[in-house]
Amino acid sequence: MIPRRLFAFAAPSALALAVTLSLPAAAEAQGRSVQASAATVAVPASQRQVTFTVDAPAPGGVLVLPLAAEGDLARRATGLDAAEREAVARALTSAQFTYGDGKSLTLRGLGAWDAIYVAGLGETPEAKTWQSSGAVAGRALRDESGGLTVLAGGLSAEAAAEFAIGLGLGEYRSDFYQAKARERAAPGPVTVVTEAASAAQALFRPRGEALVAAMAWARDVSNEPANRLYPETFVDRARGALSGVSGVTIEVLDVPAMERLGMGAILGVGKGSERPPRMLIMRYRGTGAPAAPVVLVGKGITFDTGGISIKPSTNMGNMKMDMSGAASVTGAIMALAKAGAPVNVVAIAALAENMPDGRATRPADVLTAMNGKTIEIISTDAEGRLVLADALSWVDANLQPAAVIDVATLTGAVRGALGDEYAGLFSRHDALADQLTAAGDRVGEPLWRLPLHPNYAADISSTIADLKNGGGEGAGAGTGAHFIGEFISRDTPWAHLDIAGVAYGAATDTGPAGSAGYSVRLLERFVRDFQP
Ligand code: BES
Ligand code: MN
Ligand code: ZN
Repeated sequence: MIPRRLFAFAAPSALALAVTLSLPAAAEAQGRSVQASAATVAVPASQRQVTFTVDAPAPGGVLVLPLAAEGDLARRATGLDAAEREAVARALTSAQFTYGDGKSLTLRGLGAWDAIYVAGLGETPEAKTWQSSGAVAGRALRDESGGLTVLAGGLSAEAAAEFAIGLGLGEYRSDFYQAKARERAAPGPVTVVTEAASAAQALFRPRGEALVAAMAWARDVSNEPANRLYPETFVDRARGALSGVSGVTIEVLDVPAMERLGMGAILGVGKGSERPPRMLIMRYRGTGAPAAPVVLVGKGITFDTGGISIKPSTNMGNMKMDMSGAASVTGAIMALAKAGAPVNVVAIAALAENMPDGRATRPADVLTAMNGKTIEIISTDAEGRLVLADALSWVDANLQPAAVIDVATLTGAVRGALGDEYAGLFSRHDALADQLTAAGDRVGEPLWRLPLHPNYAADISSTIADLKNGGGEGAGAGTGAHFIGEFISRDTPWAHLDIAGVAYGAATDTGPAGSAGYSVRLLERFVRDFQP
């Protein structure tokens, strides 16, 4: 195994950047490039390098033993000597280990291992549980600086690959502003021992590795505070992560460009900020992909104070993550492009900062969106639907999409309805809604469909303009969805995901407090499986 530092030195441009950029950007720039079978995937420096092998394990570091049932130990643990296996079996019995998904048992002082970590796989063998068991293990073992050896004998190639993806997701940290992050040694590699090594490797690289890196990217930019991450720096970071990725093109609309196009809605949101808005358009078309793209549009409010309709100060800081939708669609196209997926996808980040100021938009102001519709501002805090209005108008005027999905931390109301168990799904197209729901179920990012009742139109009808951006005491998440739907042709299959309840939260067994990267995996799965 080549030490991590050699990779950093092998990339002189990345090294030069690392000297001049701020901390998290530097950590990103230090990411090394790993030559993959079909694509080159940048692995952030904090991530463990993963290899799959049929060879017997070399003792040292932490041994990871994924088990679904008592009988698995014999099949899995061929790499252990008889005494070690006997000790593990006794410990499992004495701890009354249940083998449940995410359950674990850590044994120390056995053989040559720093620790033996038993990971419960649960009773239902499917991708999302293999992955989540791996994520629990990855998080539990994130402070182990040595290598991890995973004994995956008897598991399928898919199970081994998903467990390894989970390890990568679980080791994610967001402590880049803490001294301990600067001092931490690069973590040791992961070696997965399986008789299906080449099949598992093919599933993991480039696809799984690209997904792990894209999730980390999306969580990093979401977790970044708004003094460092604003529309222009979001664009810089997306460009940096996508530069050199084959098949990707990037177009950025700045303020004059948006003025020429008549994007009065996003411009109205951005007016109160020193940081100008941007519309970031990223395209990726893989070889053999269809002509009509799947279009992903993300709400990218880099900070939402509410504007003149200012929010209460308690927890306002969470609104640094109000660009999570934009981060997710960018992460999704990154995962697909870096893996060379045979898909045609366009991702759009509608980026603005919502601030109160002498130039800010006021309640009762009237804005005109790119499609000519006029909008009476009831609340400057209903800004997400405004930036999405212009993004969808642009899609309607410029693309012939097979489907359009927008993703937004849009309403507090969806949290009241669904909590953090489900994201809200709104669509008039049943086949599209079903495909999105299926993708969410497969990856463990579930969606719950909510109605788009025609009567919601009355809630957003204005007496002085074509529409108003808020109103009614009724279904807040539904009226928001209905508003957005006014900016895309009724013939275009369109769905809206309201991720306000799930985009971020407290620490869990699988990740630290902050961004969950919600919908990167879902969108990646959905786009790959999409049937027009
Ligand atoms: N970004 C917020 C929604 C939000 C709230 C996300 C809590 C995550 C946690 C959005 O811009 C907003 O302020 N929505 C308003 C809409 C209302 C003014 C029509 C809301 O939900 O109160
Ligand atoms: Mn708001
Ligand atoms: Zn918002």
